[in-house]
Amino acid sequence: MKKIILTHRYHDEAIERLHREFQLVIAADEGPDLPAVMRRHADAEGLISFLSDPVDAAAIRAMKKLKIIANFAVGYNNIDVECALEKNILVTHTPDVLTGATADLAMALILSVSRRLVEGDALVRAGRFTGWQAGLLLGKELNGAILGIVGMGRIGLATALRARACGMKALYYSRSAKPALERKYGFARVTFLELLRSADVVSLHLPYSPGVHHLFNRDAFALMKKDAIFINTARGPLMDEEALAAALEKNELFGAGLDVYEDEPAVNEKLKGLKNAVLLPHLGSATGKTRRAMAMMTVLSVRQALAGKRPRHLIPEWKEKLRDKSK
Ligand code: GLV
Repeated sequence: MKKIILTHRYHDEAIERLHREFQLVIAADEGPDLPAVMRRHADAEGLISFLSDPVDAAAIRAMKKLKIIANFAVGYNNIDVECALEKNILVTHTPDVLTGATADLAMALILSVSRRLVEGDALVRAGRFTGWQAGLLLGKELNGAILGIVGMGRIGLATALRARACGMKALYYSRSAKPALERKYGFARVTFLELLRSADVVSLHLPYSPGVHHLFNRDAFALMKKDAIFINTARGPLMDEEALAAALEKNELFGAGLDVYEDEPAVNEKLKGLKNAVLLPHLGSATGKTRRAMAMMTVLSVRQALAGKRPRHLIPEWKEKLRDKSK
């Protein structure tokens, strides 16, 4: 049986299947030092990683028989893709199955921040609800507001469609134009600057790469409307947490809803102290149905790769490499 490493336990049914088909090593059961476990099992042919597991060049090079890295996430910035490509190691991720769940969470954050749900909940629990008041916890109306989607991929689109049901109009900033979406839904493509200046809610839906590190820095927050809402369900390092905390503190923004952080699981202490920030523990894809589908997708990817087939859910860089080869 071929040996594979799963970094942490996940859906039981997926683990059962992996046990049936492979010699399965669950790294976290062998100790907290993932690189050491990888070195111990350097003969593994497959690796299923979590987004919180750095799979760097040293780890990839140490595993001499490795044929596939299947990331249990749609984002894969935890993997040294360049090194994997160079070593001809397949890399897969889990697109599509988590689109709805992640867009739901982005929408939930937009609603929570705009209507101050967490502050309201805290007030009730603290026994400070003394009766209906005309001016209690007034929020921001979404009907007619402009949503600025940064990164109009699958999740960006699903979020824009949810926001549409609340009466919001969407603009987007994206590397590539989406004329079909513009025609079908009337979403307008704008420059980054225009988006910052005109959106009432800015929501991030782009993958992280060093080229977009701190895309949202002090200057970007300063260009946003004074009562705008900032939502990040994508990746923490897309924003400068310190700059965001400063903008929120000075009420230069209405509020922020975050599901991801620059250095997870650490969260900027200033953000934790702010009432106008809603902070979640990276729950984007966290529904039972979605997590099961993601786990099953990793099983399928490893099965396909180790049977010598091309896995269906290769990352875009790998698809590009195969396209270039076939030219
Ligand atoms: C979650 O953050 C993912 O990339 O799947």
